[in-house]
Amino acid sequence: MLQIDFSNLFKVSGDHGLAEKELDRVFIRLPACLEQFKNRAQDFFRVIDDTAAVAEIKQFVRERRERYRDVVVLGIGGSALGASCLQQSLTPLYGHKARRPGPGLYILDNIDPVMMREILDVINLKRTLFIVVTKSGGTPETLAQYFYFQALVAKAGGRVGQQFVVVTDPQEGFLRRAAERDGIPTFPVPPRVGGRFSVLTAVGLLPGAFMGVNIDKLLRGARVMRDRFLSPDPRINDSFRLAAVQHLLAQKGKSINVLMPYAQKLIRFADWYRQLLSESIGKAVDERGETVHAGLTPVSALGVTDQHSQSQLYNEGPNDKLIMFLNVKNLGPRVNIPSPPSGESTLAFLRRTSFNELMDVECQGTQRSYTENDRPNLAITVDRLDEDHLGQLFILFQGATAFLGELTGVDAFNQPGVERAKQVTKEILLARQGAKKRT
Ligand code: PA5
Repeated sequence: MLQIDFSNLFKVSGDHGLAEKELDRVFIRLPACLEQFKNRAQDFFRVIDDTAAVAEIKQFVRERRERYRDVVVLGIGGSALGASCLQQSLTPLYGHKARRPGPGLYILDNIDPVMMREILDVINLKRTLFIVVTKSGGTPETLAQYFYFQALVAKAGGRVGQQFVVVTDPQEGFLRRAAERDGIPTFPVPPRVGGRFSVLTAVGLLPGAFMGVNIDKLLRGARVMRDRFLSPDPRINDSFRLAAVQHLLAQKGKSINVLMPYAQKLIRFADWYRQLLSESIGKAVDERGETVHAGLTPVSALGVTDQHSQSQLYNEGPNDKLIMFLNVKNLGPRVNIPSPPSGESTLAFLRRTSFNELMDVECQGTQRSYTENDRPNLAITVDRLDEDHLGQLFILFQGATAFLGELTGVDAFNQPGVERAKQVTKEILLARQGAKKRT
């Protein structure tokens, strides 16, 4: 089970840290927040019980994993970040060289024409499966990619009906209609699960299964944390405790939340969380319709790399951040560091140690230095980086974000700013086409 250590928050002095009684005042709001949340049309914590959906995904992948050399995921935002995080966290870092079975998997979560061109140097169009992920079925970037690759596959003599699979709303949207018309297989995004909360649906599970991720274990871990998320007891409800800390510190001017994993494979997790927190809590109006311009600014950092980059700022710059360390207790087999020459007494600290120990000690050292400088920080620790623990982490942060919405008084599940930008893009493109027609 993951653990959260809040103790450094109590060591930080003055108004920069927290006192137990401050937390207690928020903790008593848990039952009401839970009730409020349950009245919302949200299913992200329920879909993890959908064993029929999992069986369908596994069968689909079983039948195709050997058939394709490459899998390309087309999608953006919540439709891509979860898969990206699964890929980085649970498959070899240097995957393109690692000898492992199954197709190569590429996630195109941008529309840079360089990507559109250069991916063609890597994939074999006739032996590639395209997973098109868009909940709305109308996102301009994803539709553009879909049309582009569909035309290329057809031109290369491939079979569009077989080489594409669509993950979208069960009823609505252009892609749902197109898939049904063209005989393209589909998987649903449950209507009551928003993009950034959808990693544990087909949105993340389908690409994950192609990568070789054990999706049963991922969901098992998620269910363990879900039970905590639904507990009205603040000693058990990790998500609520985390949200309470974020909320209280935001009121003390710590409106920047840094998530700093000490694991190379977790930096995409921090990117996934960056979207979750930004889009969920960054809102112009609260639920009563009053202008609030609420939001916490998420920053992703990486230990130890960013100790030599952002850490100086965190240690001595404006005291406006909560730093959340994310540690993995067991980083796998020990990798020893050869001892420096015995005459080099100034390098004695590197004797009889390992990269595992160095990573751990550097994390402790950074936490200690932040605490001494009155920088509020907490540590979330998982035993290992595997499916079970990643599932727990997804629900921990999704649950905390849901509670943060309740505590802040904003709707954590809409994204009017994102929708507006999509609309404006379409309007500008249409206006340009009008102008082109007239010339
Ligand atoms: O979290 C969200 O709702 C958004 O970030 C969406 O995931 C993103 O805009 C992509 O939307 P769609 O899945 O409809 O293509």
